[in-house]
Amino acid sequence: MPIRVSVIGAGTIGASWAAYFLARGFEVAAYDPAPNGEDAARRFIDDAWPTLETLGAVRPGADRGRFSFFKDPAAAAKGAGFVQESGPEREDVKIELFAAIDRAAPPDAVIASSSSGLLISRVTAKCRHPERCVIGHPFNPPHLIPLVEVVGGEKTSPDALGKAMAFYRDIGKHPIHIRKEVRGHAANRLQAALWREAIHLVTEGVVSVADADAAIAYGPGLRWALMGPHLTFHMAGGDGGMKHFMDHIGPAIQSWMDDLGAPVLDAKTQQAIVEGVAEEAAGRSMDELRRWRDRKLIEILRVAGTP
Ligand SMILES: NC(=O)c1ccc[n+]([C@@H]2O[C@H](COP(=O)([O-])OP(=O)(O)OC[C@H]3O[C@@H](n4cnc5c(N)ncnc54)[C@H](O)[C@@H]3O)[C@@H](O)[C@H]2O)c1
Repeated sequence: MPIRVSVIGAGTIGASWAAYFLARGFEVAAYDPAPNGEDAARRFIDDAWPTLETLGAVRPGADRGRFSFFKDPAAAAKGAGFVQESGPEREDVKIELFAAIDRAAPPDAVIASSSSGLLISRVTAKCRHPERCVIGHPFNPPHLIPLVEVVGGEKTSPDALGKAMAFYRDIGKHPIHIRKEVRGHAANRLQAALWREAIHLVTEGVVSVADADAAIAYGPGLRWALMGPHLTFHMAGGDGGMKHFMDHIGPAIQSWMDDLGAPVLDAKTQQAIVEGVAEEAAGRSMDELRRWRDRKLIEILRVAGTP
């Protein structure tokens, strides 16, 4: 009998998680209050399945028919070995949702939230068992991207953290443990730091939106698909590694860091970015862009790390 994973909230992230859990051989019990929630989730799973097969991520015996849908979070969480919550990014909504899941899920089930930046210590304010709750933050789309950030709160037990890390590792993800609660965890803060400077460069007229994207996608982004900035710079130091890199280029980089901007997303800046990105998209529909991105992502994942 396969273990049941409960997916609470089945929008962009929840449906993608559902497809992945099914592919890894679990039974998935989902909940979403949207009137078309079940149809949309089933459609997403059907679309994602061939991609997961191409990637070799569908375990022998896995069956996308092991998907059931409920109109009540408690019913979906009942009997689950692991719960992945992916409802709206609103603290008030997640507090109520976690309280309902916590009442219904079996005592040994871990409850993880996909939240992009909320603190689990606050999300569990009304839980009777906050010790089994964690953040399990994926990257979009979770059925393809390996990273999951695992964060415990003030009351999370080491046992629940260990179980969550082991669960994600066992299903082929690359979990990292974020040791302190901070808004946006780690990866979104790193993204925000880079995007902040991209916006600064655009608003200062240094580059267009499309060229800011090209400066990442055709340069450092290619290396970042394989290794992060530290190992990349370690190699940029030649045989002397990071130590030589620090001695040699460190002072110059410090001067660039001191010169970085801090743009504000006011109406004028937003308009400049929205118009710039429309120009860059050049009429390609969201579906077209998504298909193109996923096709390329599969190729990159084949090299850089697949489940
Ligand atoms: N979109 C991303 O790139 C991304 C990446 C990583 C994590 N996340 C996080 O995942 C979560 C979901 O984001 P999303 O992008 O899938 O949003 P989404 O709007 O696509 O999906 C949210 C779903 O929650 C449902 N919902 C509404 N009220 C609910 C309730 N009370 N209980 C349960 N479900 C409810 C909605 O019907 C919708 O289907 C958020 O916490 C978000 O921060 C998003």
